[in-house]
Amino acid sequence: MLTPLIAGNWKMNTTLHEGVELVMGLRERLKGVDSVEVVIAPPFTMLQHISHLIADSPIKLAAQNVFWEKKGAYTGEVSVEMLKDTGCKYAIIGHSERREIFKETDETVNKKAMALLRDGLKPIVCVGETLAEREQGVTLKKVKAQVKAALSGVSGGAVREFAVAYEPIWAIGTGKNATSAEAEEVHGAIRELIFEMFDAEFAKEVRVIYGGSVKPDNIDSLMAEPNIDGALVGGASLKAADFARIVMFQPV
Ligand code: 13P
Repeated sequence: MLTPLIAGNWKMNTTLHEGVELVMGLRERLKGVDSVEVVIAPPFTMLQHISHLIADSPIKLAAQNVFWEKKGAYTGEVSVEMLKDTGCKYAIIGHSERREIFKETDETVNKKAMALLRDGLKPIVCVGETLAEREQGVTLKKVKAQVKAALSGVSGGAVREFAVAYEPIWAIGTGKNATSAEAEEVHGAIRELIFEMFDAEFAKEVRVIYGGSVKPDNIDSLMAEPNIDGALVGGASLKAADFARIVMFQPV
């Protein structure tokens, strides 16, 4: 049984003051949680500070993005090594907002994945279809192509470091989550693909998590599905009580 992964993607939200308050609320509520891996991804500017605040708690730190080069003339970018310095253990890559607004591609997502593996952070790779793609019936084709591209060149056991986040774009920030059954169908296909690409002993350790309007009132049914190993939470991760409730899901 995989340890579920619940990650909070704060996106471009919270001042330092608000971020600290949120973390203190989470620390209090998540004391002693050990059956779930809890990760938060605050903005770059407060990673270092928050890292100290969560040092003796079950909460781990993630970045929302990373650049693949080690160092040099890349104005505005942040390397894996720099993220490790702040205490990060994970980095989210390929979020649909980065693909859509910042024109990231399957190829750059793969470069980021390889850089994270090379320098020792765990990638959380986001994939997902638009509403138009779902309506055209190409959801599985799109998502599988994204996963395949992101994991291209990853060898053997390294795949264990990955989590894949299925985030249907039409469900992000809309309040309209995929139903458990809709999510389960895509998660099953992603799992199957990973088993086709890698040895079963490694493939079985890859967590496939769901994102898109995850809230306290839908997490329990999502987590009851066999192929949903956790959640990537946006809006609801900005409220300590809601995020803590999501971490303490009760599958039904
Ligand atoms: P919401 O939970 O706000 O829909 O955001 C999901 C998401 O994009 C997490 O990465």
